[in-house]
Amino acid sequence: MARSKSSSKWLREHFNDEFVKRAQQEGWRSRAAFKLLEIQQRDKIIKPGMVVVDLGAAPGGWSQVARQLVGRKGKVIAVDLLPIEPIADVEIIQGDFLEDDCHQQLQQILQALDKPVDVIIADLAPNISGIKVADQARAMLLVESAFAFAQEVLTPGGHLLTKAFQGADFDNYMRQLRQHFGRVITRKPQASRARSRELYVLAMNFKG
Ligand SMILES: C[S@@+](CC[C@H](N)C(=O)[O-])C[C@H]1O[C@@H](n2cnc3c(N)ncnc32)[C@H](O)[C@@H]1O
Repeated sequence: MARSKSSSKWLREHFNDEFVKRAQQEGWRSRAAFKLLEIQQRDKIIKPGMVVVDLGAAPGGWSQVARQLVGRKGKVIAVDLLPIEPIADVEIIQGDFLEDDCHQQLQQILQALDKPVDVIIADLAPNISGIKVADQARAMLLVESAFAFAQEVLTPGGHLLTKAFQGADFDNYMRQLRQHFGRVITRKPQASRARSRELYVLAMNFKG
């Protein structure tokens, strides 16, 4: 079957992409790993011994990075709709984060752990339909669910990192975050494609 022009362009860009090459060389499962590495280098959000929940984790680049940073005394829990190949010492839940069942599984793991959640990282992205308004609404729903979850489980002083897309409701999201966190900033890491409207919002020092 002939490839569409846009998918051929995507494949060409993907294989010429310096972050794709580096991810393969360095053993990261995704080029996205470099986004978290850059944010971590600058903002130092994950420390040894911490509990980190990674929402929208497949194929697992961010979880690999988080696992390295928390070390053996910490814990990483990864959630995605898609299966994730096992990562040593990372607890994986396959499920829809918007569904209760997934939340129950997460809560069970957290209760058994009996430690507060220090950091939530959420690179959640919906399947793009091409209908801009619907895609933006779906992306916002995911981000707001991550924020609601953070309000339930995050320890005071904890951090929430979400991927958000600039558009309707973005300013409102930032306003809400500022009410609950001491410091809220945006980051556009180098590995985030310039033409993409994606931005990372880092909300630090949860007020509890
Ligand atoms: C950009 S990818 C994440 C890449 C990841 N950070 C990494 O480093 O490998 C976004 C992920 O969000 C997941 N996702 C989207 N909606 C979801 C939902 N409702 N529940 C769980 N995962 C979801 C997708 O399946 C996809 O794997």
